[in-house]
Amino acid sequence: MPAIDPGLFATMYSARALRRFKPDPVPDDVLFQLFDAAIRAPSGQNVQDWRFLIIRDAAVKATMQEWALQGWASYSARFADDPAKIDLLPRGQRLSLRSVEHLAHHLAEVPVIIAVMGLKGRHSTPGGSTFPAVQNLLLAARALGLGGSVFNLALRREQLHEMLAIPENNEIFCLLPIGYPTDRHGPLKRKPVKDVVYDGKYGQRWTYAEAQPEDGLEAKWLRAD
Ligand SMILES: Cc1cc2nc3c(=O)[nH]c(=O)nc-3n(C[C@H](O)[C@H](O)[C@H](O)COP(=O)(O)O)c2cc1C
Repeated sequence: MPAIDPGLFATMYSARALRRFKPDPVPDDVLFQLFDAAIRAPSGQNVQDWRFLIIRDAAVKATMQEWALQGWASYSARFADDPAKIDLLPRGQRLSLRSVEHLAHHLAEVPVIIAVMGLKGRHSTPGGSTFPAVQNLLLAARALGLGGSVFNLALRREQLHEMLAIPENNEIFCLLPIGYPTDRHGPLKRKPVKDVVYDGKYGQRWTYAEAQPEDGLEAKWLRAD
């Protein structure tokens, strides 16, 4: 396993959702590291009811690709009159949509898809006890030179339960296609802190944040390369 961990902050500031992958398999020791980092996350009452399912079977992935393609078809229906409309979107949005489209068409070739589950009805804030582990996993992936994202276009709960023998008391929260990316990690497009953090009362601006650069501390953590 290459020791290329860029450090926590550089990792957080550059972990883009990556959706294009090389065909190279993800070795078990690398996968183990991802899960071993994921399970360090907090959960309500430390119940740790997250469960992860490694999907590598070609037939299962092919079926999931069909669902993803159907999901993409219904999403992209809004561009049906003129698919070229996607090309007129702002750059970031366009690239992101094109990468979603690409993944929908290539899901079966992704080395690993991880299904993330938790106990149904166990928590008052269900995702809150699962997504911290998901984020740990995605950050660990980024730190090890892998890429991935949440990709729920292929999330057909009923069919997945049946196909993968997932018990009824589990809820599937998300799917994570993971692999060695062909796209690069890099700066993230995010609203600045001043637009999303309030001081004292909802809607009240935080003057400290108002005085900070639009990109926040990005330059501190990302080398321009
Ligand atoms: C709960 C959740 C659901 C998501 N669902 C999908 C999805 O179905 N398909 C997809 O391509 N990306 C999905 N994403 C990834 C987001 O689209 C992505 O993180 C966001 O666009 C930011 O992209 P960036 O991190 O590359 O800037 C999801 C993310 C989260 C947290």
